[in-house]
Amino acid sequence: MSETMSGIKEVSLRRATVADAEAIAKVRIESWLASYRGIIPDSYLDGMKLEESVAHWRTILEALAVAGERICVFVAESEGQVIGFVSGMLLPEPKLGMQAELTAIYLRPAWQRSGIGRRMLQKVARVFQAQGVNSLLAWVISDNAAARNFYEDLGGALLREQDFNWDGLELKEAGYGWTDLSVLMASVNALPSSLALH
Ligand SMILES: CC(C)(COP(=O)(O)OP(=O)(O)OC[C@H]1O[C@@H](n2cnc3c(N)ncnc32)[C@H](O)[C@@H]1OP(=O)(O)O)[C@@H](O)C(=O)NCCC(=O)NCCS
Repeated sequence: MSETMSGIKEVSLRRATVADAEAIAKVRIESWLASYRGIIPDSYLDGMKLEESVAHWRTILEALAVAGERICVFVAESEGQVIGFVSGMLLPEPKLGMQAELTAIYLRPAWQRSGIGRRMLQKVARVFQAQGVNSLLAWVISDNAAARNFYEDLGGALLREQDFNWDGLELKEAGYGWTDLSVLMASVNALPSSLALH
């Protein structure tokens, strides 16, 4: 077991590869089932197909080879198991004044609220900062109060709420933005961390 002297589990973040497609899809489905029950219809949640999600993520991960730093995907691992992932991309055209977008951030339920999410978000922000991009947009389902709190506590400003259609579902989403990623970095570093993360 990978534990520190204090017994706290170690979590590491690394770039995702095509070989992570299935692990990412499993985390995503597990996280959706735990977080979106009551927000998204049961029929949709219970009908999610692992193989479809694996295929979707394989396509994204294969595209990394040609996308360079325009797309980035990281996985969080503990004891060799993927426990979370995050992805982001540079936008071809600014949206709501933001140049980059956080496209997904999910952790297995047992690993939530331990400071991993904020470190994953920071990782993506660093990739964009290194390219001279200083703004980031994140969309969240309006009823996802926990994730909204996460973005707000990390300095994200509510930019817009709007209707959107996801796979045939009519939902509402809220867009959060950072116009200065150093604010995000400072917010992450200001929060105490309970995990050994490297
Ligand atoms: C949203 C998510 C990625 C955040 O990652 P995390 O590791 O759980 O969050 P952190 O521990 O880094 O939390 C940072 C801060 O965000 C806020 N926050 C995080 N989760 C929260 C929750 N469930 N309720 C209220 N505030 C929360 C807190 O201010 C927290 O700081 P604190 O724990 O010191 O109070 C993760 O909880 C997750 O995977 N949720 C389910 C999937 C999801 O909703 N993804 C977002 C889709 S848009």
